[in-house]
Amino acid sequence: MIRKFTFGNPIQTGAVAKSIGAADSADFPFEHSLSDSFSLELTMDKTDIVYGLGEANRGINKRGWIYESWCSDDPFHTETKRALYAAHNFIILSGKSNLGIFIDFPSKIIWDMGYTETGKIKIVIEGRDFDLYTISAASPREVVREFRGLIGKSYTPPFWAFGFQQSRWSYHNEEAVDRIIDGYDKAKIPLDCVYLDIDYMQSYKDFTVDGDKFPNFAEFVAEKKARGIRLIPIIDAGVKVDDGYEVFEEGKQNGYFCKRADGSDFEGGVWPGICRFPDFMRQDVRDWFGSKYKFLTDMGIEGFWNDMNEPALFYSAEGISRALDQAAQLQGQNLDLGKFFKLKDTFAGLSNSAEDYASIYHIIDGEPVNHQRVHNIYGSNMTRAAGEYFEKEFGKGKILMFSRASYIGAHRWGGIWFGDNHSWWSHILLCLKMLPGANMCGFLYCGADLGGFNENATRDLALRFLALGVFTPLMRNHSALGTRDQECFAFEEPEDFRDIIQVRYRLIPYLYNTFQTANENDDMIFRPLSFDYPGDKIARECETQLMLGEECMIAPVYEQNASGRTVYLPEDMAFVKLSGERVTKQKLAKGVHYVDVELNEVPLFIKEGKKIPLCKPAMRTSLLDTEDIEYI
Ligand code: GLC
Repeated sequence: MIRKFTFGNPIQTGAVAKSIGAADSADFPFEHSLSDSFSLELTMDKTDIVYGLGEANRGINKRGWIYESWCSDDPFHTETKRALYAAHNFIILSGKSNLGIFIDFPSKIIWDMGYTETGKIKIVIEGRDFDLYTISAASPREVVREFRGLIGKSYTPPFWAFGFQQSRWSYHNEEAVDRIIDGYDKAKIPLDCVYLDIDYMQSYKDFTVDGDKFPNFAEFVAEKKARGIRLIPIIDAGVKVDDGYEVFEEGKQNGYFCKRADGSDFEGGVWPGICRFPDFMRQDVRDWFGSKYKFLTDMGIEGFWNDMNEPALFYSAEGISRALDQAAQLQGQNLDLGKFFKLKDTFAGLSNSAEDYASIYHIIDGEPVNHQRVHNIYGSNMTRAAGEYFEKEFGKGKILMFSRASYIGAHRWGGIWFGDNHSWWSHILLCLKMLPGANMCGFLYCGADLGGFNENATRDLALRFLALGVFTPLMRNHSALGTRDQECFAFEEPEDFRDIIQVRYRLIPYLYNTFQTANENDDMIFRPLSFDYPGDKIARECETQLMLGEECMIAPVYEQNASGRTVYLPEDMAFVKLSGERVTKQKLAKGVHYVDVELNEVPLFIKEGKKIPLCKPAMRTSLLDTEDIEYI
């Protein structure tokens, strides 16, 4: 049962697709208090689990830590972080009863899940205007279904977006792109997409292509498509301030950019230097920005990734001058602990600063609204701008779109990737833990930068990361400028990589179908084991394995130098190892086992009485024969 409680006069976020009447606030079931913010408290039983918060840090069970809903451009996803790129305000408190809570509020929320007081969830909503939904159902899975019914169906990408995708911040010209495709083809490793990061643009300007690097872009795109490869360019939120640059001029002349308090356009620094930021909160601005993608779709582009849309602000001129003033005052002084660290923090705090966010204004329903009040829906509305345009021009499911920042509601317009992770072993597990959370909130098309974005990947890490990525709808290897080459063919013995990627292609019919079924049924692709085996203590506490669809369980290897892993089977299952075209099967009984998994093998566990289809591998999704199926 879903109940909605409305407090004050909430800003419409677009999260909910089905409108329901508000209940009497006298029936509000939680202890609460109201000042400038709204606080509520729930009591947890010792064995209750808290699921949710979508793409968030730490465990599947969110208990024991404090989180913040505040879309943040933070490339260090360490355990101590409270906020990452998304604000997915949905949790389920699951124990004797199952209660979902969705807080539809676009500014900051603090979720203290037993951090301050072990047995209490304390939620602070930094405002007075919001909708809060409660959902009670017999199981957490039912809670999710009801919630997903409320927020509407998920974005579905084209079929080819289930193929393997190669990205790196640096494929900056035709030769670089060709080298990647040739590298994959030569190593006979399947591939469907190559990404174009910011370097394809002229001076990092959205909706431009650098003619020196790509002299005939449309022809180049067509040539790649003839080879079965789609190019996927990046689009950033900030529009470079540059006289004569069409997008900037149009935005300026039509008043489409976010404002300062005095009505002038807000400016902040990102990759291109000083930028202005489209006010995606407005329908006319979304229509305008959305229509700009035409520049690239007209040249044959069929997919995009929207980035830096928290929005990321490296600095503002005002922030820099404040910092420089502070430095000037300290010049020549003997800096003690207090003074030195204050100075250091001032410079370190130039990026994404609260002062800068507080100086931005949007126009909503004709009225100026401070950015801080709607921060968490900025990126979502950028996705929506693109999604609305794509749907209108091409119909549903034709254009690949995924974003870095997101709020619930954006799941109807695009997918997400989990941002700038690291080539760390712990980030294999972090990706695994984010998957069910993202699915709960409607984000079905999602995945992490496989192999890790920041720092250098080792061969074994890349292989193990990819072996998990075999199952994520978005299977993309991406890495940062300046890191070691991370393409599958760049490592010694690339045939091991081929074995892993081929498994993905063999599984695409199954994975695609599982995706569609989950979407039709408002269900998850990936579930915590505790969803399926609520009475089983080990399953309830399992944070390293997931249920996949109705048939399978996945359990990736996530430690260096490990020749396998310990796995818990909550029931008898077939332990299957997939490697290239090879399949080995072994029956395992319910219980704990150590399973050996070679670097070129993908482990999979299939429940008794279930079967999954495998097709033959192919070099491209378009070459897959989805009729020629064998079953395991
Ligand atoms: C951001 C993105 C990353 C991209 C980089 C350069 O850090 O998250 O994926 O490669 O910007 O555009």
